[in-house]
Amino acid sequence: MAGRLEGKVAIVTGAGASGPGMGNGKACAIHYAREGARVYALDINRAALADTEAIIKREGNTVVGAVCDVTNSEALARMVQDCVQAFGRIDVLHNNVGILDLDGPVALPEPIWDRVIDTNVKSMYLTCKHVLPVMERQGKGAIVNISSVAAIRAWGTPALAYNTSKAAILQLTRSIALEYARKGVRANVVLPGVIDTPLINEPLKPHHTPEEIERIRAERHNMIPLGRMGDPFEIAKAAAFLASDDASYITGAELIVDGGLTSNCIPTW
Ligand SMILES: NC(=O)c1ccc[n+]([C@@H]2O[C@H](COP(=O)([O-])OP(=O)(O)OC[C@H]3O[C@@H](n4cnc5c(N)ncnc54)[C@H](O)[C@@H]3O)[C@@H](O)[C@H]2O)c1
Repeated sequence: MAGRLEGKVAIVTGAGASGPGMGNGKACAIHYAREGARVYALDINRAALADTEAIIKREGNTVVGAVCDVTNSEALARMVQDCVQAFGRIDVLHNNVGILDLDGPVALPEPIWDRVIDTNVKSMYLTCKHVLPVMERQGKGAIVNISSVAAIRAWGTPALAYNTSKAAILQLTRSIALEYARKGVRANVVLPGVIDTPLINEPLKPHHTPEEIERIRAERHNMIPLGRMGDPFEIAKAAAFLASDDASYITGAELIVDGGLTSNCIPTW
């Protein structure tokens, strides 16, 4: 049976993971390839990227990997050229890169604010800047941006720059969706809840014993109405739907993938 993304070319940013295990971008790159896409995977971390490439190739699917910093406009312009040279077109732009800070306005150092906003939001403006002309020429394309439930709900931890960046992604996506609707390009956003990836597990390691980490992980599972943290492939499957022609009448939309977390007005933690 043909996959949802058969014949399509998909760029996935942040296609590695920031530690051992599966990240959202890594799962998306692997899943898009399983659904038939030829994947152009990029990440700033060569080793993390190599792992994703190896998995995709081992499964007999097609991937080209590129080491690239999504805050570097010139590098992104080269990456887009390289992708078009390799595969002839760009059907899907999946903007996954995001970094986390855990400070409020007074403690947060200004350079960290800039780094988070540049990495999480400016990067999406830049990838769109370089990819949209290709999609416009094709008369077709789909953009999937990864935000977070932190865009719409407080979660009890100060993370000013992260929360602000994730909220900005919603309006960035709507603005592009409207400007490009008549040009055949759709843009949508996914808001993941608590997903069991290195992004949220690695920061625990320097500060907690393995027993404490297990307790924190159990609490995280317990606070979700469905009773568990999400799996990165559950983000990938939602994103693949939005990237595919099955979502042909969906643009400017926000898809919350959070096991019911944001529906719960009385938090369980
Ligand atoms: N894990 C969660 O609970 C959760 C919840 C909501 C939203 N998200 C979002 O999902 C996305 C991915 O999260 P994850 O948990 O898979 O993270 P992750 O840290 O495991 O993976 C992110 C990848 O992005 C790469 N990266 C970082 N900076 C980069 C840059 N400047 N240029 C290129 N690549 C860069 C990293 O090397 C890493 O491989 C992020 O946008 C995050 O905010 C995650």
